Amino acid sequence: MSKVHTFDHPLIQHKLGLIRDKNTGSKDFRELVEEVSMLMAYEVFRDLPLEEKEVETPICKTTVKSISGKKVGIVPILRAGLGMVEGMVKLIPAAKVGHVGLYRDPETLKPVEYYCKLPTDVEERDLIIVDPMLATGGSASAAITFLKERGAKSIKLVCLISAPEGIEKVHSEHPDVPIFTAAVDEKLNEHAYIVPGLGDAGDRLFGTK
Ligand code: PRP
Ligand code: URA
Repeated sequence: MSKVHTFDHPLIQHKLGLIRDKNTGSKDFRELVEEVSMLMAYEVFRDLPLEEKEVETPICKTTVKSISGKKVGIVPILRAGLGMVEGMVKLIPAAKVGHVGLYRDPETLKPVEYYCKLPTDVEERDLIIVDPMLATGGSASAAITFLKERGAKSIKLVCLISAPEGIEKVHSEHPDVPIFTAAVDEKLNEHAYIVPGLGDAGDRLFGTK
């Protein structure tokens, strides 16, 4: 069974509280999502391998640690996942960014794919799928399947807020994929929105409602 990593860091929890507030406008919402993503990246990338190399300080030669050529790919699920990319690539500037376009059909609640563009060497990369919301889990699970069909071997899923139903779906369909989430909320409502959640992440990021 894959692991669920939650974050109790006060900075993340404080910022998540501001993100949830319906009175937080798009500009602040975007900035906060970026900041929380960057803080989460700190833990998501904890297992990056290091190697030693020699540098010369102004005083003498010394051995320092350096990330050892691991290839990373950040894959936002469009649209709302875009809000989490900048925070991640600020910490890992060499990461390539792939995109998976999915929307949730409002009638069936099933994910519909409309775009997919990934780095060519996807099978060699550690792929980090980012999406603020893990609700039914349909979108995340479909995105993981697309990546696996294209050869991906190492995938992590990073979300701001998850519903227990979404975690269960990803667990059962992709037990190899660890989930990193800043919060696990109570449930889904009758429209499959997360309760208490933050509303529609895409609309709040891009001001479309
Ligand atoms: C939202 C969200 C996830 C999905 C989660 O996207 O960003 O991708 O819903 O729901 P699920 O777990 O039930 O699949 P949405 O379909 O609203 O598209 P958008 O990002 O374009 O707004
Ligand atoms: N998508 C969102 O943007 N919010 C939810 O609560 C559920 C799905």
